[in-house]
Amino acid sequence: MAGTHRQPEVNIGLVGHVDHGKTTLVRALSGEWTDQHSEEMKRGISIRLGYADATFRRCPEDEPPECYTVEEHCSEHDVDTDVLRTVSFVDAPGHETLMATMLSGASLMDGAVLVVGANEEVPQPQTEEHLMALDIIGIENVVIAQNKIDLVDGEQARENYEQIQEFVEGTVAEDAPVVPVSAEQEINLDVLIETIEEEIPTPERDPDADPRMYVARSFDINRPGTTWEGLTGGVLGGSLVAGELDVDDDLELRPGREVEEGGQSEWQSITTTVRSLQAGGEDVDTVTPGGLLGVGTGLDPSMTKGDALAGQVAGHPDALPPTWESFEMEVDLLERLVGAEEGETIDDINTGEPLMLTVGTATTVGAVTSAREGECEVNLKRPVCAEVGDVIAINRRVGARWRLIGIGRLQG
Ligand code: GTP
Repeated sequence: MAGTHRQPEVNIGLVGHVDHGKTTLVRALSGEWTDQHSEEMKRGISIRLGYADATFRRCPEDEPPECYTVEEHCSEHDVDTDVLRTVSFVDAPGHETLMATMLSGASLMDGAVLVVGANEEVPQPQTEEHLMALDIIGIENVVIAQNKIDLVDGEQARENYEQIQEFVEGTVAEDAPVVPVSAEQEINLDVLIETIEEEIPTPERDPDADPRMYVARSFDINRPGTTWEGLTGGVLGGSLVAGELDVDDDLELRPGREVEEGGQSEWQSITTTVRSLQAGGEDVDTVTPGGLLGVGTGLDPSMTKGDALAGQVAGHPDALPPTWESFEMEVDLLERLVGAEEGETIDDINTGEPLMLTVGTATTVGAVTSAREGECEVNLKRPVCAEVGDVIAINRRVGARWRLIGIGRLQG
């Protein structure tokens, strides 16, 4: 796609139950496979958020919906297609223990495609849990892809469609269009593209705002054995949600790292510079919000290895939200546990209990130091960088796993 790759301008989440076809759909739309990690390959599931960009195009000689495509050339009319926009798909994992990863991805999403397998009863546990997460984070622009229609007959497809309608009633996806597709057979993808273009617009951004990047991944891209002269600085992956970032900008990361001083430990932000920027698969000088980007920094790569800086917030020095080691939050509990066989109710939060909290792309465990009706105070194991009013996903350990029990809003 040389010369045609553009910086993505919007992030679209792909959510839904395990094996319903999210990864296959991203591949069909982008030509890329998001499962890039060997462990994932082995397990056959997306264990980390996968990213892939897709450029939506239109054949000038065709009518909607047939004109919508991802191909550069329309073979039927023998003309090149026109670029509409480049979008970035965030492929969230559907495996049940990975809700926190899903939630951290959700904070980067401007809209979402909920993939529902047409060949199974609705809802499957993670279909329900993921929709609840979209609801909580307030992602309103949702398109439902009713996938695997090649595996069902007309009547089953209609029945499944009705189950979907019933299931989304009263949620953020209530009025979401349902598009029947087959990701594997590439059926009806033109209608899906048209629907995404209509339902998930590029949000308006303020280029003068302070840049703010949610770090979702971090890497050491050096090959083992590289000598120090040849070392490339640590790389951050994530998304800019406000402002613009340029090469050579100074960069601060919060909460940063824990530093021991005189027997006391304290969290100090990390400062570095932006050495390179990568967006839409190309090196660029400036990045704007939307899409997922790579930031080459001057950091020691051992600091960024293995997602060590995932969950941090990056921006210009002294222009970031505060770091919190404890905070008070307003709490809104769900009526019942989602994804459970039978709707289990949710007990009030107790003083002393541990909660797993997702704030932006950060996930941390907090001990409840005081709980009252509708609010509680938590002491965090790892601090987070966040703004008063930010949404927090609250998870409690139920049996062997963390389960979403409600949302909080940071009060201070
Ligand atoms: P996780 O990443 O593990 O959450 O799963 P996923 O939702 O990304 O599912 P994936 O794309 O890996 O697809 C699961 C299986 O369903 C694979 O074997 C696909 O080949 C198959 N599949 C996906 N889409 C379709 C479809 O439209 N029709 C048929 N027949 N099979 C499909």
